[in-house]
Amino acid sequence: MTDAARTTATISRLGHHGDGVADGPLFAPRTLPGEIVSGVAEGSHLTQIRVETPSEHRVQPPCRHYRSCGGCQMQHASDAFVAEWKAGVVRNALSAQGLETDFRPIHTSPARSRRRATLAVRRTKKGAMAGFHGRASDVITEIPDCHLLEPALLAAIPVAEALAVAGASRKAPLAVTITTSDAGLDMLVRNGKPLDGPLRIELAQLAERHRIARLTWEDEPVAMEQPPEQPFGPANVCPPPGAFLQATREGEAALLAAVQEITKGARRIVDLFAGCGTFSLPLAQTAEVHAVEGERDMVKALDAGWRKSKGLRRVSTEYRDLFRNPLLPEEINPFGAAFEAAVIDPPRAGAEAQIKQLAKARTPVIAYVSCNPVSFARDAKVLVEAGYSLDWVQVVDQFRWSAHTELAARFTLKD
Ligand SMILES: C[S@@+](CC[C@H](N)C(=O)[O-])C[C@H]1O[C@@H](n2cnc3c(N)ncnc32)[C@H](O)[C@@H]1O
Repeated sequence: MTDAARTTATISRLGHHGDGVADGPLFAPRTLPGEIVSGVAEGSHLTQIRVETPSEHRVQPPCRHYRSCGGCQMQHASDAFVAEWKAGVVRNALSAQGLETDFRPIHTSPARSRRRATLAVRRTKKGAMAGFHGRASDVITEIPDCHLLEPALLAAIPVAEALAVAGASRKAPLAVTITTSDAGLDMLVRNGKPLDGPLRIELAQLAERHRIARLTWEDEPVAMEQPPEQPFGPANVCPPPGAFLQATREGEAALLAAVQEITKGARRIVDLFAGCGTFSLPLAQTAEVHAVEGERDMVKALDAGWRKSKGLRRVSTEYRDLFRNPLLPEEINPFGAAFEAAVIDPPRAGAEAQIKQLAKARTPVIAYVSCNPVSFARDAKVLVEAGYSLDWVQVVDQFRWSAHTELAARFTLKD
């Protein structure tokens, strides 16, 4: 490659996936605003990138796997830069809706705190290999020194490999979702061989040998040494295999602290998109809670956790699709027993239908937890137009070194 075939570009901003963007637009992964870079333009992408003039925010990536692994996108940027960039993503999404607010200092989860990961695990001639997919490729990168995962997850890599030796087909890698719990590892395997008698016996022995708390093969339970419960306040919940959990314990604690602060003093709270009770159960220490969730098994897990707990106020549960069938104002404000606060934590699509009904119901305080600044800003506009003020936003970064941004926000009804 001659230098003549190379293009030089100045990075002006970062795109949604954290890639640097120059005029064109020309996307240059792992570059930063202000950097002068050179590379080979292939369509709208710059490849074979060389950073000619580095940004003052460029740092040495802490993880030795960063060059090849696709698990992280932002290790080449300083923590301060990433914090400001993530807050900026939320600020820009709000500004596109004509909104602004105060930002609390970001909460960033520490390194090595991710409590759940899905590893790709492939059989090899010598045995098996586990890791994350490489950058924009199907190649699996091994990650023995990963800086994201909890040590217990890293220690589970040989167990995931043993599962592949026992039950991966030659054609496709297993997808092994591993969640840590105080009782041990909760492992869910997908893309494996069909479960027959001998494989079932082998997997059960493997689970016992490696003290796996629970092993699930596709949708079938294979072994349950101990329920892999998660503590939510004083309650313990055994989530369905692979069910949603906040990504880190620290991130969960930061979101919960914000939600508790926002709903403080409320005696009746509705928790919408409640999951397995991450917020409902701790909130039930001081309030009656109605938890609504669209996955039936999660509703059952939440209810079972509440029934076994001691000292909590009443938690009622409802299995309901809140996109198609949002809670209506008359349900949010039943005669004489209106909810005094609402918690809403929807998936990435946001909560368009439910937010309209909440706005009509005029619930005085709303704690909105979001994993997508764009759908959050769209929903925020509906609330603000209905007479709410957006008091503050707290960005919570539990997907450290990724381009992903999460937040908690307080809305209060004016007058
Ligand atoms: C971001 S998670 C939050 C869960 C919970 N608040 C937590 O912190 O663990 C979003 C939840 O919304 C649920 N969900 C997704 N689509 C839904 C729908 N249409 N109606 C009701 N719940 C839905 C998911 O099952 C998931 O539990």
